[in-house]
Amino acid sequence: MWGACRWAVRGLRPLSTAARRTYAAGSQYQYILVEKRGERQNVGMIQLNRPKALNALCDGLMMELIQACESFDEDPGIGAIVITGSDKAFAAGADIKEMQSKSFQDCVNSNFLSNWGKVSEVKKPIIAAVNGFALGGGCELAMMCDIIYAGEKAQFGQPEILLATIPGGGGTQRLTKTVGKSLAMEMILTGERISAQEAKQAGLVSKIYPVEKLVEEAIQCGEKIAKNSGLIVSMAKEAVNGALELSLAEGNRLEKKLFHSTFATEDRKEGMSAFVAKRDANFKNQ
Ligand code: HXC
Repeated sequence: MWGACRWAVRGLRPLSTAARRTYAAGSQYQYILVEKRGERQNVGMIQLNRPKALNALCDGLMMELIQACESFDEDPGIGAIVITGSDKAFAAGADIKEMQSKSFQDCVNSNFLSNWGKVSEVKKPIIAAVNGFALGGGCELAMMCDIIYAGEKAQFGQPEILLATIPGGGGTQRLTKTVGKSLAMEMILTGERISAQEAKQAGLVSKIYPVEKLVEEAIQCGEKIAKNSGLIVSMAKEAVNGALELSLAEGNRLEKKLFHSTFATEDRKEGMSAFVAKRDANFKNQ
């Protein structure tokens, strides 16, 4: 089983048939590896696995990634999701070879890459564990996640300008809201990359770990989240995301509604009762 294959997390060696076995029983993913991790198997782990193309995000890969995210989102046993790549590349961007011959009409008529937004519609928290390159759509994918952990050698960039295009997966918006206008402009207009350390300083990344420890740390973060009430976690995620999308007044109104809503849940009663009784809480996502 892939769960036992530690190599598959750290590097990308050729896959055995068993390693290609997927979480969705009866089907096989071509571009990703999927398994449950953590002591309680409550963290859904997705590894982008297109090593020859540095995990370039071709249509097939994105479709599989979205499907895997949605499966984990529906799985009551999963409390958080980790997305990672290889030591060399989280993802080197959208697939340039696939995009190369597209016309303006093709893009408009097919609403090209609009399905990527589905990653940010997932209710459960997603942690991006970024080693190596997170460029273009790869950086945008990481920013669609809720928490970004980086390996010491990670590099983030929006180099689309060098191809005479611009970020199309939310990069101009999410990067600017996260790191501020000056650094976002510099990255998007020059195409230059920033290091993990610069990304942390700018608030893009919350923690940096040695390359070989990154994925385990991300899983541990997922386990900490998964211990909490999934129902309330998804409300907290929605409230924080409101800060990126709404005005302060609208965001505060959303927060207050969600906060009040927690009082309609069994888990909120359980959490406060457990505190007062000095015992561990037993959340049921109710
Ligand atoms: C398709 C890619 C690719 C990409 C790398 N490869 N990035 N294929 N799309 N985005 C392929 C290369 O063609 C090559 O295949 C193999 O991966 C290894 O890449 P090399 O360039 O040989 O590796 P290296 O010299 O180590 O350089 C790594 C790199 C470079 C710095 C990451 O590959 C690079 O600059 N890639 C493009 C990064 C980029 O511009 N990303 C933004 C894409 S646009 P072969 O077959 O030759 O061995 C985008 C739009 C977003 O993301 C819109 C989102 C909605």
